[in-house]
Amino acid sequence: MEIKKLEVQKSEVHNSEVHNSEAQKSEVHSSLLYLDYCATTPIRPEVAQAIARTIEQIYGNPSSLHQAGRAAKKTLEAARETFAQLLTAKPSEILFTASGTEANNLAILGALKHPDLVGCHVITTVIEHPAVKNAFRELESRGHSVTYLPVNEQGVVQVEDFVDALRPDTRFVSVMMANNETGALQPVNEIAQICRSRGIVMHSDAVQAFGKVPIFVNDLPVDLLSLSAHKVYGPKGVGILYVKRRTKLFPVLFGGGQEKGLRSGTENVALVHGAAAAARMAVEEMGQEMERLKSLRDELQKRILDTVENVRITCPTVPVLPHVLHLTVADVLGETVLLELDRESICVSAGSACSSGSAEPSPVLQAMNVPDRFIHGSLRISLGKDTTQKDLDRFVDTFAGVVAQLRNMLPSSFPQIPTGV
Ligand SMILES: Cc1ncc(COP(=O)(O)O)c(C=O)c1O
Repeated sequence: MEIKKLEVQKSEVHNSEVHNSEAQKSEVHSSLLYLDYCATTPIRPEVAQAIARTIEQIYGNPSSLHQAGRAAKKTLEAARETFAQLLTAKPSEILFTASGTEANNLAILGALKHPDLVGCHVITTVIEHPAVKNAFRELESRGHSVTYLPVNEQGVVQVEDFVDALRPDTRFVSVMMANNETGALQPVNEIAQICRSRGIVMHSDAVQAFGKVPIFVNDLPVDLLSLSAHKVYGPKGVGILYVKRRTKLFPVLFGGGQEKGLRSGTENVALVHGAAAAARMAVEEMGQEMERLKSLRDELQKRILDTVENVRITCPTVPVLPHVLHLTVADVLGETVLLELDRESICVSAGSACSSGSAEPSPVLQAMNVPDRFIHGSLRISLGKDTTQKDLDRFVDTFAGVVAQLRNMLPSSFPQIPTGV
């Protein structure tokens, strides 16, 4: 596939202030081991430079008819073309929003504004990101009947459960492509095919999956698909929504009618330009890079299991995003492990929500029936382009030390539930 190259020049920022802050950054971060690429990714320097250049030089409003406006419009449309090519869509099927969250909200709330869909039955899953889950809660408050599909013990939605949940009045379905905590891939293709055969509108949140696994809409019968640029070394604050031609979508924001009237607000040309450049690089490098990360991830998993007792791999035998390792550790709190690793300048994610001082296990792990002794010790380690073999040594050594130290602090009266429970 010929992908039009966006103009991204390397090392062209000469401002001394920027050089100073770069130097400070490398000093501060020289020992930082960032293993939280599912949360966000560092922007590629060449993308940041392309954005800086565009902010300065392409400042016109894409809706203006004069040459400054036309230059902005051209940049915006080139970015649209890039996303269309990457997804095998048409440029007219790509909308830009200000986040993956907004893309999800527009897809879900916008599709269900159709007068024929008032009060219809809709289906989603118990493992969706809050940007989908809370949009469905909103649908409930608007009178829709919502089915939240369960998952199996490895966090995967079962197609049979989906088929069982279908009703004559089911008109909209949203199932994520890969879960943001466990990385588990979901059977979106099979579910989308069933939806297509029944005329049900299908949305998928592909924010975590994009740039990690191939996604081509000419081969995937979804009507709506959400992406976010900051997961693929692009800027924060750019969402992308694929809207298949003829899908009935209504705006949820009102204003000047940009983005075919579906997402009013002056387009963020510079960030969208950077988002397209980052996405193109992610997709071009995907094959090799994901193979590299998968082999690092598999080795990390093995070494952790060889070194630390009573660690449970969350999705051991189902397809998972190649760069994600989710595990639970018996007899420790994931948040405490996270904070202790952070003291050693290692960044990972703990996958639980802290509310009013008490750490609640993640709803995703609860839905998977993770055993009691493990469920509070949840950790997500996600690798990325700066992860190297050497990082594995540092992580495993530090992690083993942290877990041993925390377990030593347990009172002897701590209930020793058998790990098989
Ligand atoms: C699966 C999933 N959907 C949606 C989002 C939200 O994207 P954004 O941060 O661009 O709003 C995220 C971000 O973590 C995500 O992981």
